[in-house]
Amino acid sequence: MAPSAIISLAPLLDQDQSATQSAAASLLSALETSGFLYLTDAPIPKTVLSQVYELSARFFARPLAEKDALAWDTPRANRGYSKQGLEKVSLSLSKDDVALDRGDAGEDQKESFEIGRDDEEGYPNRWPEEDREFKTVMLDFFERCRKLHAVVMKAIAIGLGLDAEFFADYVKQGDNTLRLLHYPGVPPESFANGRVRAGLHSDYGSVTFLFQDNRGGLQVERKDGSFTDVTPIEGTIILNAGDMLSRWSNGEIRSTRHRVVEPPMKMGGQDSYPPRYSVAYFCNPDFDKTIEVLPGTFGGEKGEKKFENINSGEYLVQRLSATYGELLGAGV
Ligand code: NI
Repeated sequence: MAPSAIISLAPLLDQDQSATQSAAASLLSALETSGFLYLTDAPIPKTVLSQVYELSARFFARPLAEKDALAWDTPRANRGYSKQGLEKVSLSLSKDDVALDRGDAGEDQKESFEIGRDDEEGYPNRWPEEDREFKTVMLDFFERCRKLHAVVMKAIAIGLGLDAEFFADYVKQGDNTLRLLHYPGVPPESFANGRVRAGLHSDYGSVTFLFQDNRGGLQVERKDGSFTDVTPIEGTIILNAGDMLSRWSNGEIRSTRHRVVEPPMKMGGQDSYPPRYSVAYFCNPDFDKTIEVLPGTFGGEKGEKKFENINSGEYLVQRLSATYGELLGAGV
């Protein structure tokens, strides 16, 4: 199903219980049917988001050597700069399978910068030292998104008929990743032979918040294997479920595969496609938590538990290790 649900966060943030209940039910239903939806009325001011975009563009405009000095190094740290072609997003757990999956589609045409929780011992963020504003703005944004994760997980708990605070203990630390993305402007030929801006993949964690500009190109896979556009809607955040949440819900919630392809049209009659900027916030259950199929999602008519228990942090490192294949051995 195409992601058509637009759900307001307002009822999930206020005290009116019946409004909360109904918004939570809609949110869960969208995650079960499509795995993708649009959120409106998020408590993140437009000015904050504009600043994030502005500083992101400023960062990516730096010379490559400066960005490389802040290079992403290990899946466990998962912080720093990745130049084009480094990550090969995929659905597979092993490096060999990732290579097979990707076939001729080539490298992703994007560069990214990852920011993690700033107080995790042994894994410092890789801040550009001369740009103090960058750090301040990104940490503020990180915290706003961390809080939003808690709101969304609460809605999911209510929707599933669990205690509203069921997930509260799983989202305390904020073991999440803020990822700034830049897809450089490219000529149409760069999409020849099935090349894309970001390959087909599912996300790994609980949920992802995606903030995108108006360029378009994001597509989600339908159940029949065809694709549908996730058209940008101004003022909304795209919310999608990841693999860990899908496992947690015994498969009731869908972690839908998606990709970023050639945008629908060239803008302004130019020869090339303009750059695309997006900001993704990948949420995870705290890394020390065990993810065990949720009560109420198995047994009786719902059938057996389909998934083994996993540790949140270990699962994520396993998935990241496969996609950043070239870097395996760098202390994973
Ligand atoms: Ni994704």
